[in-house]
Amino acid sequence: MTERPDTNSANQMWGGRFAAGPDAIMQAINASIGFDKRLYAQDIAGSRAHAAMLAATGILSNKDAEAIGEGLLTVLSEIETGKFPFRVELEDIHLNIESRLTEIVGDAGKRLHTGRSRNDQVAVDFRLWVRDQCDQAIAGLTGLMQAFLAQAEAGADWVMPGFTHLQTAQPVTWGHHMLAYVEMFARDRSRFEDARRRMNECPLGAAALAGTSFPIDRHMTAQALGFDRPTANSLDSVSDRDFALEFLAASSICAMHLSRFAEELVIWSSAQFRFVRLSDKWTTGSSIMPQKKNPDAAELLRAKLGRILGATVALFTIMKGLALTYSKDMQEDKEQVFDAADSLMLGLAAMTGMVGDMTANREVLATAAASGFSTATDLADWLVRELGLPFREAHHVTGTLVAMAEAKGVDLPDLTLDQMQTVHAGIRADVFAVLGVENSVRSRTSYGGTAPDQVRAQIALWAERLP
Ligand code: ARG
Repeated sequence: MTERPDTNSANQMWGGRFAAGPDAIMQAINASIGFDKRLYAQDIAGSRAHAAMLAATGILSNKDAEAIGEGLLTVLSEIETGKFPFRVELEDIHLNIESRLTEIVGDAGKRLHTGRSRNDQVAVDFRLWVRDQCDQAIAGLTGLMQAFLAQAEAGADWVMPGFTHLQTAQPVTWGHHMLAYVEMFARDRSRFEDARRRMNECPLGAAALAGTSFPIDRHMTAQALGFDRPTANSLDSVSDRDFALEFLAASSICAMHLSRFAEELVIWSSAQFRFVRLSDKWTTGSSIMPQKKNPDAAELLRAKLGRILGATVALFTIMKGLALTYSKDMQEDKEQVFDAADSLMLGLAAMTGMVGDMTANREVLATAAASGFSTATDLADWLVRELGLPFREAHHVTGTLVAMAEAKGVDLPDLTLDQMQTVHAGIRADVFAVLGVENSVRSRTSYGGTAPDQVRAQIALWAERLP
C-alpha cells in the first residue's frame, strides 16, 4: 500500500498533542461538516447564550463576551450570504464556527469554549434543530387536517362504499372517511407535541460528560434558548439521543398514515375507480401513453415511509449497545434525522396540496356505494329487528338472497318482493327502505358512526379545535 501524504498539519483546535494531521481517509470518515453545517443557526444561538452566561457569572469579561456575541453575528451573516469559508479539516460545524470567530474577534474567540465541550454543544444544537422540526411537523399537520376537514365539510353526507379487505363492506359517507384521517393526523400531531415537551430540556453545560468546575448558570442558558429547564444528569445529557428517536418514531407513524391515504388516492384516481380526480398540479403525463395522468406525488408519498422508517431503524441500530457516554458513533445520527425530516415536511406539504385540490366524483361514489351488495348488513339487521330472527339466521337468509341476486346479475334492491319471499316468507315490502344507501348511512347513528348527523357533529368539534 502506498503511503498517503498528511492532509495538513495538526488540527488547530485540538492538535496540541498531535505531531501530524490525519490521513486523508481519516479526514473523510471523521468530518461531519458536509452535513452538520445545517446546524449553524442552532450552534450560533447556543454559543451566544453560553457567552452571555459566562459574562453574567463573571467567568468571562463583558468585553470578551460582547466581542464574541458580535463576532458570532458576523459569522451568521457570512454563512447566510454564502461567504463563510467552510473547511473540512476543521471537522464539524462547531469547530468551523469557533475557528472563524477567532479569526474575526481574536483571542476572545478562544475563550468561548470555557466550561463546555463539543459533546454538550452538539447535544444542544441537535435538540434545538429537532425541536424546530417538531414545530414544523405540528404546523404542517394542522394544515393537512384543515384540508381534510374542508373535504369533510363539502361532502358530509355524500355516500361512498366503505371497504374492508378492499371489498365492498357497507356504505359510508365521504365526510366520515375524510374525518378518519383528521383523527389519525391529530394523533400524529399530539405525538410531536409530546416529544417536543419531553425533549425541551437543555443539555448545555454538561460539558464533556461530568459537568464543569466553572460556576456556570445552566438555568440561564436553558431559559435563553427556550428550554423549560436544564437536563439533570450530565452523563445522560451528552449521551442521549432518544429525543431524535422519538421524533423519528412519530415521523414514521405519520408517514405510515400518509402512505395509506396516498394508496387510496392511487386506487381512487384510477380509471377503474374514478372516485376522485387529482388536479394537473399533482399528476404527471406519460411520455408514450397520451391518455395517462399518473398520480406520481401520491406514489412518492406512499414510498416516503421507506426512507423515514429506514432512518428510524438506522438510528436505533447506531445507538444500540453504546456504553455511556458520548461515542463518535453518534455523529451518524444527523444525516438520518435530516433526511427523515426533509421527507416528512415535503410529504406533509404535498399531501396538503393534493387533498386541497382533489375533486370527489360524487355520482361515481354514489353508484359504487350501491353496488356490491353493500346493504346486506342492513337487510340482516331488518330481519332481526322486524321479524325477530336471531342474527345468525338473518345472516344466513341474507346470504341466500345475495347469492340469488348475484346469480341474476342484479343488486339487492333489484330483487322483487316475490323473489325475496321464496327465501323467507315473512319479508315485507317495507324492507326496500333499508336497501337504499342513503337510508343505510342515515341509520348508522351510533357515536362516531357514519350517519351524516354524526359526521356533522364531529366536523363542528374539529372546526372549533382547528384554528
Ligand atoms: N461532530 C460531532 C458529532 O456530531 C461533534 C461532537 C464531537 N465530540 C467529540 N468528542 N469528538 O457528534
